[in-house]
Amino acid sequence: MDNKAGSFWLPPQASTNAAELDELFAFVMDINYVFFAIIFGMTVYLSVKYRRRRADQMATSDVDHSLLWEGAWTFIPLMLCVVMFVWGFRVFLHQNTAPEGAMQINVTAQKWSWAFNYDDGQTTSDLYVPAGRPVKLVMKSKDVLHSFYVPDFRVKSDVMPNRYTSVWFEALAPGQHRIYCTEYCGKQHSGMYRTVHVLSEEEYAAKKQKGFEGKPEGLDPVAWGKQLYTKYGCNACHSLKEGERLVGPSFWGLVGREGVTAAGEKYVADEQYINESIMEPMAKVVQGYAPAMPSFKGQIDDDQMNALIAFMKTLK
Ligand code: CUA
Repeated sequence: MDNKAGSFWLPPQASTNAAELDELFAFVMDINYVFFAIIFGMTVYLSVKYRRRRADQMATSDVDHSLLWEGAWTFIPLMLCVVMFVWGFRVFLHQNTAPEGAMQINVTAQKWSWAFNYDDGQTTSDLYVPAGRPVKLVMKSKDVLHSFYVPDFRVKSDVMPNRYTSVWFEALAPGQHRIYCTEYCGKQHSGMYRTVHVLSEEEYAAKKQKGFEGKPEGLDPVAWGKQLYTKYGCNACHSLKEGERLVGPSFWGLVGREGVTAAGEKYVADEQYINESIMEPMAKVVQGYAPAMPSFKGQIDDDQMNALIAFMKTLK
C-alpha cells in the first residue's frame, strides 16, 4: 500500500489507521458545517424577520409550540451523536489495541531527546520501523511529561515518568516522517523533533543487523561526532560558542579544561571525565550549574563516545 497525500486539513496518511480516523474526523466536521450553516443562517434570518418595526410594538404572547419541530430538533441531533459515539468508540478501541504479535519497541523520553530500544538491545535516537508490519511502542519518561506525536501516522500519546503508555501503528510504505514532542517540557521542547525511518522488510533486517545508527560509511569520527551532538540532543544544553552558558557549560575548549565541581573538587576534562559526565552526570557537576543532565548510559556506545570526544577536541 502507498501513502496517501495530505489535504487542506490533514497531513499525508502514512499508516493503516490514518484513513479510518480521517473518515471519522471528516464526518464530525461535515456535521459541524451543516449545523453552523443552519444555526447561523436561522439566527440572521429570524433576527431580520421578527425585528421590532415600530417603537410601540409589543412582544407576541402565547406562542404555542410545535411538537413536530421540537421532536425533529431533539431526535435528529440525538441520532447524530449516537452515531458519532458508536463510530468514535470503535475507532478508539481499534487505535488503542495493538494487534497480537506486533513488534515491540521501547521508547524513553528525556529532556530533550528520545531513545528507541529494540529487541536486540540496540538503542537509536531516530525511530526505525519496517513497512507493512504492526509496531507497538511502549513508552516512559525519565523526567517530565513529554508527548509522542507522529502526525502522518495519526499517533499521539503522553509519555510520563513512573508510568508506561503505548501506541501502535502499521506504516504503509517506506519513507520518512516527523516525530514531535507535543507537550511543553522545558526550554528545548521544540527541539525534540526526530524522524521515523520506514524501511522495506529486507532493508530493515539488513540495517538492524549492521546497527541502525552505526558509523555511516565514509564519515570520519569528527564528522560523526558532530552528527551525534545533535542526534542525542547535546546541543539543547551545550553551546559550541566560547563561554556561552546554556543549561550546561559550552563544549568550546572543553577538552583539557580544568575546573571545580559543585562539591569543591578539582577536575580536568579529559576523556575519562567526559565519559563519566555523560554516563553518570551527577558524579562531577561543574560548579555554578544545576545538576540537570540525564544519563546516557545504554544509549551511547563506545564508538559513539569516541566520535563525540573526537569532535569535542576540534572545538578550540
Ligand atoms: Cu519533550 Cu516537549
